Amino acid sequence: MSKNQSETTQKGKRYTITAALPYTNGPIHIGHLAGVYVPADIYSRYLRLKGNDVAFICGSDEHGVAIPMKAKKEGVSPQQIIDKYHNLIKDSFEAFGIAFDNYSRTSSEIHHQTASDFFRKLYEQGEFIEEVTEQLYDQEAGQFLADRFVTGTCPRCNHEEAYGDQCEQCGSSLNATDLINPKSTITGSKPVLKETRHWFLPLDRYESFLREWILEGHKNDWKPNVYGQVKSWVDEGLKPRAVTRDLDWGIPVPVEGADGKVLYVWFDAPIGYISATKEWAEREGKSWEPYWKDQDTKLVHFIGKDNIVFHCIIFPTMLKAHGDFILPENVPANEFLNLEGNKLSTSKNWAVWLHEYLEEFPDKQDVLRYTLTANAPETKDNDFTWKDFQARNNNELVAIFGNFINRVVVLTNKYYDGVIPQPGTLTQVDMEVLEELRTYPEKIGQSIERYRFREASQVLMNAARLGNKYLADEEPWKVVKTDPERVQTIMYVALQIASALAVLSEPLLPFTSEKLRDMLAQNGNDRLFWDDIAGFETLLPAGKQINKASLLFTKIEDIEIEKQLEKLENTKKMNEAANKTAEPQKETATFEDFTKMDLRVGTIIEAEKMPKANKLLVLKVDTGIDTRTIVSGIAQSFKPEDIIGKKVTVLVNLAPRKLRGVMSEGMILMTENAEGKLVFVNPDEDGVTNGTTIN
Ligand code: 2FM
Ligand code: ZN
Repeated sequence: MSKNQSETTQKGKRYTITAALPYTNGPIHIGHLAGVYVPADIYSRYLRLKGNDVAFICGSDEHGVAIPMKAKKEGVSPQQIIDKYHNLIKDSFEAFGIAFDNYSRTSSEIHHQTASDFFRKLYEQGEFIEEVTEQLYDQEAGQFLADRFVTGTCPRCNHEEAYGDQCEQCGSSLNATDLINPKSTITGSKPVLKETRHWFLPLDRYESFLREWILEGHKNDWKPNVYGQVKSWVDEGLKPRAVTRDLDWGIPVPVEGADGKVLYVWFDAPIGYISATKEWAEREGKSWEPYWKDQDTKLVHFIGKDNIVFHCIIFPTMLKAHGDFILPENVPANEFLNLEGNKLSTSKNWAVWLHEYLEEFPDKQDVLRYTLTANAPETKDNDFTWKDFQARNNNELVAIFGNFINRVVVLTNKYYDGVIPQPGTLTQVDMEVLEELRTYPEKIGQSIERYRFREASQVLMNAARLGNKYLADEEPWKVVKTDPERVQTIMYVALQIASALAVLSEPLLPFTSEKLRDMLAQNGNDRLFWDDIAGFETLLPAGKQINKASLLFTKIEDIEIEKQLEKLENTKKMNEAANKTAEPQKETATFEDFTKMDLRVGTIIEAEKMPKANKLLVLKVDTGIDTRTIVSGIAQSFKPEDIIGKKVTVLVNLAPRKLRGVMSEGMILMTENAEGKLVFVNPDEDGVTNGTTIN
């Protein structure tokens, strides 16, 4: 912030905080949570606890081109796709305590109206360039190609799989016609150029505005990754950008002569922040306008790094061109999260899906929030590992935070039946501890206000360490035998720390905070807020009755982590199998060739290992004609005792041959599953893919 930091968080300021609207063509995973929604939620919760007026806004982005593509593939309607994922995503957010004031959707009536009005206003003000240009057209599909409907080589970095709107390798934002060797993703065909009319937002006319507002005005307060991307975009020269598309999924272009055209999804989606605010305000019986029009409102967009250009250049240009709206104060975009060393990927199923996590760790939402924050990809891409998740839980949440609270609440119940004791005179140590405690709201707050959520999580843990160390040093469980009066003071001090932690942990660990407030009986009118912790005399008064202890965190065992790692290992194997190219077909065999092979069903009646051979089993097989010996190279995939009685397919007229001195009279047909393990021929077996050879 170019202005004084503290100015932005004075009591009662108005904030509009937005979190990127997720596309509703799939569920969401830990990357989404870490990059956007947990930081945005921490920020919003903190500001509310400081007494600010906050509108925390999000919703589903339902006009992405991947939506009708997925619908087509699955043979359902786009509406069915968006309904399914809108609800799944909304539920996941709720389950993780992402406390939006409104989670809306861009298919709503209010959004269609708002986006149409926005477009029409710019149109009437003459802000657009209306032009007939040549665009890519798929003759086979009878459709114009833009955005995700076309791939090709990126003109900037030569990445061969760049999309018509963006190159995911170098982050450049592209026009479909910029691509080298474009290819339709619908039919795979090479597109031709065909004329079509569109409306373009002339970004180039806004260059000096963008330079002044961001490059000069936000040089020191925007994150370097965000500022750097904006700078390189502006320095490269801005070009007019088409904001309409020839598609049948989206918001119809609301002007004459635009039949069959819709608004570009990146034109309508950010307006979704405004429509979601309107919807919320209407529900609350208040005016939405101050949240978007009052210059004193701070607008902050939380996004991932692939959305920077849209939130820092295109949307602000739209807002500026419109004229009625404020501009974002900051756009604290995060980098990407990886999973166990590899890029998160929906198509490769390389992800921890939130709805699956909730099934496996139903009461550990805060553990994931904490791990993702402590290791957030704030300044560079970062890696999520299950081992780190376990360590953060066991060594920090359980051993420090949970341990401290448990001791305090258990001992208070044990010594005083849960009534806060009257303290005696505070010692120097007591006073120092309490004085240090009073500094934490400011320390944590500063980290949050600077969008340093990793740092905030560590400072919070230090506050818990302060309590843990205090108890370990003062040892009330020993002192109680000799000086019970002193113990009253120790427990009183420790209870003040516990009460402070209930407030300070709320932004980051909302479920824990609530549980703790319940334990301390501070969830009613006596609920505390952020600034209460800074200058307090007493947070929990002597004489107050608290409740019984319940565990805030529980240890995660190795076996639970191994299960997750195994799941990923299986995904890896599945992907490898899917990528394995089938061997080319062999020379043509005549029918006579085929009939030469005598294939029979047989049963393995004996099996034993071939001495001194790792791979061979000696089998006795009942072929229906006779019982014969077959030597088979399957010892690494099967134990002899497991295959006795197994029905198999046998090539009985293969010329006999000696293997390690044993005459083998035939061959059992085998194939391989996804893990490279030999299996008896049964195409239905898990992981046996098309094209796998039988031999
Ligand atoms: O990248 C995405 O997932 C987009 N759906 C984000 C949209 S943010 C906003 F502009 F709506
Ligand atoms: Zn590129």
